[in-house]
Amino acid sequence: MDLSELDLDAARAAIAAAATADELAEVRKRFVGKKGAVGRVKESIKTLDAADRPKVGQAVNAFTAAVEEAVTAREAELGPTGPTEPSLDLTLGSHGRGRGHLHLVTQCQRELEDVFVSLGYQVAEGPEVEDDWHNFEALNFPPGHPARAMQDTLYVDLGEPEQVLLRTHTSPVQIRLMESQPPPIYAVMPGRTYRNETVDARHSAVFHQIEGLAVDRGLTFGDLAGTLETFVSAYFGKKLKSRLLPSFFPFTEPSAEFAITCVFCDGSGCRVCSNTGWIELGGCGMIDPNVFLAVGIDPEVYTGFAFGFGLERMPMLRYGVEPIKTFFDNDVRFLSRY
Ligand code: DAH
Repeated sequence: MDLSELDLDAARAAIAAAATADELAEVRKRFVGKKGAVGRVKESIKTLDAADRPKVGQAVNAFTAAVEEAVTAREAELGPTGPTEPSLDLTLGSHGRGRGHLHLVTQCQRELEDVFVSLGYQVAEGPEVEDDWHNFEALNFPPGHPARAMQDTLYVDLGEPEQVLLRTHTSPVQIRLMESQPPPIYAVMPGRTYRNETVDARHSAVFHQIEGLAVDRGLTFGDLAGTLETFVSAYFGKKLKSRLLPSFFPFTEPSAEFAITCVFCDGSGCRVCSNTGWIELGGCGMIDPNVFLAVGIDPEVYTGFAFGFGLERMPMLRYGVEPIKTFFDNDVRFLSRY
């Protein structure tokens, strides 16, 4: 274990010295890549006593976040982000057989899963083609309810009209879990979701969400707020605060929009957070008793909370990736950078 590898001054100096996007990508790899300093320190964490691991883990997270922040700032100085190389070399045989790696969205999904597994959560998945019951009805969206219209659903031409659909969110997996196992339940549910959405910088018809669900005796809104703060701090590698503002979702009561202190300016206000100091992440709330009744859980005995947010949002924030369609273009110049 050589913690001196995590030399922030050296990293900052190298980042400042990078003169092109390519050089910057190399420097980033050298410090926070799998085969770089962070990769090596992470490898050696396994060899430590369990008691010593969290400290080293925190040091790695803090170092990674600081390096990413500096890289993002330098990228802004060097010009537009995204693929900057003038053209692709398509000469046959010019590329050798490089090994591929996980897509940035998958990397982010796995990182978030790791954080939640360390909090004692299970990871669950559900089908992308859903039925009306799981996507809407059991989540307390009655037929004809205006909240359904807000979801811009893509229906599948199968069976009864408007009964089979592409899931509009990962919340139906909550229903599937509660139908199939008794409380206590602590789970995260990542996956692909679909909406009949006009594409813009932050919206795509295909995207990913991650859903959280906790059902137990005596859970409160405070547990929800604490859980949100714990996981965003773990993901971004520094202490962040959550803010909950009143909102509405049919399946939670009360419902809230959750935001976190801006990861770039720590809440003092900057371009990324439009000078508000806060970054909106997603929705959350306490499970509505009607949802418990739909899945046969007694709301007099159990309470629970849930949350859900767009997965792409995390790497968009961490690396300044925009527009969201960059994730799905499959441009190898983008893919190979992360
Ligand atoms: N499913 C909601 C959406 O896609 C997000 C959401 C809100 C999920 C509140 C939750 C929740 O679990 O409690 O808009």
